[in-house]
Amino acid sequence: MVRKRAGAAAGTERSAVRPIALGVNIDHVATIRQARRAAEPDPVWAAVQAELAGADGITVHLREDRRHIQDRDVRCLRQTVRCKLNLEMAAVEEIVGIALELRPEQATLVPERRQEITTEGGLDACGAGRELAEAVRRLTGAGIGVNLFIDPDPAQVEAAVRCGASGVEFHTGGYALAAGDAVAGRLDGIRDAARAAAAAGLFVAAGHGLTYLNVRPVAAIPEVEELNIGHSIISRAVFTGLGQAVREMKALMDSARNSG
Ligand code: PXP
Repeated sequence: MVRKRAGAAAGTERSAVRPIALGVNIDHVATIRQARRAAEPDPVWAAVQAELAGADGITVHLREDRRHIQDRDVRCLRQTVRCKLNLEMAAVEEIVGIALELRPEQATLVPERRQEITTEGGLDACGAGRELAEAVRRLTGAGIGVNLFIDPDPAQVEAAVRCGASGVEFHTGGYALAAGDAVAGRLDGIRDAARAAAAAGLFVAAGHGLTYLNVRPVAAIPEVEELNIGHSIISRAVFTGLGQAVREMKALMDSARNSG
């Protein structure tokens, strides 16, 4: 899989509209299962449904506290998912070891705090110690594309390059929570950071807090190649079924991209 591009080459591609990929985060399916420590609903079934409906990737977060996705899930997903498997993970020895064994196509390194409800902020790549670069080096060495989940901040993009990451995922939570005039400023921040990352040859993804109502402006940013979306899709799936929810999100992203 080709992940790193020369900045100039990325720039010349810009005239053609590049497709945008949807990674469906299925952690919430496992959250429902774990509420009863039962066997259902099974995130592996969810992955199959999402993939059949057009998902370009399946994203799961194997947290150190195993609050939703379990080791068994990642192992089964590795054997069943035919599109891109994106493993969100902390850069800690135990999880790096699992990733090296299972070799997802992509690993997204995220900060993890036990008390948080969900991933609340981006990684501080600027302030990270040698462990982060070392985790990136080991995962990359195994042929895994490594994204750092960072805030849309040019300094963080530069730090991601220094860490040796092949890509970044911009935390869109600030945009999703913004209201009124602040929304445009947040979008500008994502646009600028995406341009800087693409110019540096990084793969550019974004995600967190994206919904059917706010996804279009982010999907229209030409440098953004992938969106990872969970909560909103799984929430809609309760009423429409997962296949329909995935198809509707894909259609919104594609139409924003093509009219952008
Ligand atoms: N990207 C990352 C790195 C995340 O941690 C999450 C949440 O697990 C998402 C995307 C998806 O966020 P949401 O569930 O708000 O769509």
